[in-house]
Amino acid sequence: MKIIPGPASTELARETAKLLGEELLQTETKRFPDGETYFRFLDDIRGEHVVVIQSTGPPQDNNLLALLLLVHTARDLGAERVTLVVPYLAYARQDQRFRSGEPVSAKYVAEMIGRSGVSRVYTFEIHKEHILDCFGVPAFSLSTLPVIHKFLSGLDMGDLFVVAPDRGAERLAQGLSQLLGTEYGWIEKFRDRESGEITISKHNLDVENKNVIVIDDMISTGGTIAKAARYLLESGAKKVLAICTHLLLVGDAEKRLREAGVEEIIGTNTIPSKFAKISVAPLLAEAIKDGL
Ligand code: R5P
Repeated sequence: MKIIPGPASTELARETAKLLGEELLQTETKRFPDGETYFRFLDDIRGEHVVVIQSTGPPQDNNLLALLLLVHTARDLGAERVTLVVPYLAYARQDQRFRSGEPVSAKYVAEMIGRSGVSRVYTFEIHKEHILDCFGVPAFSLSTLPVIHKFLSGLDMGDLFVVAPDRGAERLAQGLSQLLGTEYGWIEKFRDRESGEITISKHNLDVENKNVIVIDDMISTGGTIAKAARYLLESGAKKVLAICTHLLLVGDAEKRLREAGVEEIIGTNTIPSKFAKISVAPLLAEAIKDGL
């Protein structure tokens, strides 16, 4: 088996290859002056089982195209099998036609990837599990809770309470609270599909004097967690930490979170950033080994 690092996941690929004890191949990558992506495999991959690791965080479209080019080329050059790891799957939130005339982007992206020549796909905390069926090849969404729990267990956090900032994240909050042996709760969120504006309905969460972990699958603009943090601090929380798998942190998301009183932002390296303090490489190495 050979590991191929995509340009958006070079560190994760290096770490995973090391854990697996497998060779990390080198590719030459650059961008043409007009913005198009160029890469070249530097090794012979004929007859090999290759694992392509390429995330599709911002800039999503460029990273997605790079992923498709990598997989197509690997097959074209004679790779016997391509396992794809797409740590963060772009467009996953548009998993249905919310308003008439819209695309079901998550489905189309999954179908496109599934037809590119991959034989198996791994991702992390996919926004909605039913999209896995659209790949048309075996596809798995791995939970990041074990590594998040391990990271948190190493911190002295005092009296804790776990909160989901919307119903979609309840599964994560419940799972983490079970691992930590704490209470959990959730907030009801409404997002105006046209303006994007977020409102929440108040709940009586017993967070007084507690350190609150707000957990979600992703932070994009930070709007969801900022709303939740303000409400939790108004309700007497001592401190609010934001934890999520995919840190997109677009625009002034960090500022928005800080202004809302979020003390720490912690994410995994499915998308590299200065806040990606938790590595998913051990989970990936294990899943790849189990899938062989
Ligand atoms: C939505 O269902 C997701 O789970 C996240 O809550 C959301 O995408 C976060 O986006 P933002 O940070 O822009 O509020």
